[in-house]
This record gives sequence, C-alpha cells and structure tokens, in this order.
Amino acid sequence: MSSSPSSAFFATAPRGLEPLLAQELTALGAREAQVVPGGVAFMGTWEACYSVNLWSRVASRVLWKIADFSYGSEDDVYDAVKRIDWPRYFRVERTLRVNVTAQKSPLRSLEFATLRVKDAVCDRFRDALGKRPDVERASPDVRVHVFLETERATLYLDTSGEPLFKRGWRAGQGEAPLRENLAAGIIMLTGWRPGEPLLDPMCGGATLLVEAAAMARGRPPGAKRGFGFEKLTAFDAKTWEAVKAQRVEPQECQLYGSDTDLEALKAARRNLAAAGVERWVRLEQADILERAAPAAAGVMVMNPPYGERMGNPEDLARFYPKLGDALKQRYAGWRCYIFTADLRLPKLIRLAPSARTPLWNGGLECRLYELRMVAGRPTRHSRP
Ligand SMILES: C[S@@+](CC[C@H](N)C(=O)[O-])C[C@H]1O[C@@H](n2cnc3c(N)ncnc32)[C@H](O)[C@@H]1O
Repeated sequence: MSSSPSSAFFATAPRGLEPLLAQELTALGAREAQVVPGGVAFMGTWEACYSVNLWSRVASRVLWKIADFSYGSEDDVYDAVKRIDWPRYFRVERTLRVNVTAQKSPLRSLEFATLRVKDAVCDRFRDALGKRPDVERASPDVRVHVFLETERATLYLDTSGEPLFKRGWRAGQGEAPLRENLAAGIIMLTGWRPGEPLLDPMCGGATLLVEAAAMARGRPPGAKRGFGFEKLTAFDAKTWEAVKAQRVEPQECQLYGSDTDLEALKAARRNLAAAGVERWVRLEQADILERAAPAAAGVMVMNPPYGERMGNPEDLARFYPKLGDALKQRYAGWRCYIFTADLRLPKLIRLAPSARTPLWNGGLECRLYELRMVAGRPTRHSRP
C-alpha cells in the first residue's frame, strides 16, 4: 500500500470518550495522539485517516487541518481564508458548507463569520476559475470547519462527511436511542469480551446490542456509508481499496436483549437485521424487574428512561430500589453497567457503584455506573 506523507488531523468524540478514542486511533495507525476536551489531535497518513473513518467506533468526525492563523476581526478571517488555494483541495462542481464554532472568540456573530468564510472560499474559486461552488446545507460534498479561539483560528476540511455515528444501519427508531458511537464507547468501557454473555434488559432500538455484535463480528462501522474524503482532490482510490480489503477475525458471541415495549422490540429487530447481526442476538419481551438472568454470569448494560421524553422523576425514584433488588436477587455473578443522566441513581438503587465514569450525551452530563453483583456482598444503603 502506498504511504502518503503525514498530515495533522483532529477526531471529535462524545465528551468523556476522548481517552478511549486516543487508544482506538493509535491502534488504527495514528501517531502523536493528544487528548483535548471533545477530541484527539493526531498525525497520520491518508491510509490512517481512511482506516480511522472506516473503523473507529467512537469518533464522531475526522477533520483534516489545512491552516491556522491569528485574527482579530472578520476581515482578518476573510483575508486568511482567501489566501488558501481552494481549487487545490476540491473541484468547483462540489457543493460546500461552512461551519464555524468558537471558544472565547472576540467576534460578535458566528453567523457573519460563517458568511465571510464562505465568501472567501467562493471568491478564491471565482478569481481562479471564473466560477464558484454552490452552497448546500443538508448534504454538502465538502464541509469546511473553522474553530475560533481568542486570537487564533484553525481551519479544517471534514474527511468524514456525515458524522460517523451515522453508520447506515438504523432502520427502526426506538424511543430516545443512544448515538451509535456513544453506545460503542459504553460497551468498550464495560470491558466486555465476546466470550461473555451480554444482556441489555432495557434495549429499546438495540443500539448497544448492534454495536456490541458488530464489534464481536469484526464488522467495520463505516462499511455501509460514504465519506467526505472521497470528494476531495487528495482522494487516493487505490489506498482506500486496500484499507477496505483489510479483515478482522469474527468472534462468536451471545447477546440478549429485552424490553417491555413491543414497538421498541420491533425497531430493535429491524436494526439488528439491517446491521446483519440478528443471528447473534436473542430478543424477548420482558420487564427487567421480573426477567431471569440468561446465564450464570455476564455483563449487563442498560440505559433506563430518563429526562423529558421518557420517565418522570417520581416514577424513577420508585423504580430504582426495585431495580436494585432485582439485580441482587437474580444477577449475582454479573457486572452491571447503568448509563444515565439521573445522578440520584446510586443513592436510590441502594447498591454501591465500583466505578462511575462521567460521559456526555450531547449536552447532558451522564454517568456510567458499574455495579459488581457478588452473592452475599453487603450493600451500602440499608433497607428502610
Ligand atoms: C432510553 S430507552 C433505551 C434506548 C436504547 N438504549 C437505544 O439506544 O435504543 C429505555 C427503554 O427502557 C424500556 N423500559 C422501561 N421500563 C422498562 C422495564 N421495567 N423493563 C424493561 N424495559 C423497560 C423502554 O420501553 C425503553 O425502550
């Protein structure tokens, strides 16, 4: 496979998963991975960039850094962006979208800054070729991202296109589904290995189960989708074909899912089938408070209803102690992981978590609680 010179990239991920992303990137050929809030900066060849887009289960996007400059006004941003040789990066027939994000920027309006960046790109094309790319908001060919800090701006081209959590398998919507990359990160944080039984007893649309089965079966998360890098002039089809030809040995796995809601189970079945992993997952309609453990030991992972869309706080406060009792009575020998934004859970479930990992679900601060269910172990909170 041809090896291109190294470029600088930045991969974004749900907050809290950055260290996991850094490990994943390094395993996929990235060098000098550097964790910062919200993502990981790294150096790599195009081969590494293609591998990360195809194989990273945790990344949201992979951005290619093409410039950084200091600025103090919108005009400075316009001038710096116009100095870039844009026709070198993509063809004028490609559609374009500009995204500007900022942290402590002195600029008053990000909307105006976005407009100036778009004008600069288009003006550079017009000067060079007499025509300019069209703007397309919904599904552009090329996305330019600008990140503004107090005095410096960094400019990236998006090598992913649609965010990487859009894997192309979601056929049915359960209620409040997790993003696929957050679900994959949660599975990785449990330390689950395909030899162990895995149960999601509140599976909804089965996001956690699809992601776990795809990992065990060695399925690339990006196998069913296209990528932004395919639209850039630097695209090297031969290297991409070679990256796609790499295989990972599939492993046997035993996955179980249940939910009280029949509609959720229908969505789960559609998703598992669309992802091609249905034969590895046994689904049933059951209440977590009543269902038996499917094996003597294993990993349980769940994301109970929480928030405005599902589960009101009083109902949940009554549910958690019952959940604690069900885990104690029927899941001795299991490692249980509960992902929730409800920080009252450890107190109300009356079990002492052995780990609590902070994670963000969009803007919502959550925890992944680990409860190791050992037969006869005393619980922290005494029963009333
Ligand atoms: C937040 S959703 C789970 C979403 C899922 N993680 C996904 O990504 O698609 C919570 C699910 O718990 C289910 N549920 C609520 N109470 C339950 C109970 N007592 N037993 C089993 N499932 C329950 C709901 O029907 C819902 O599908």
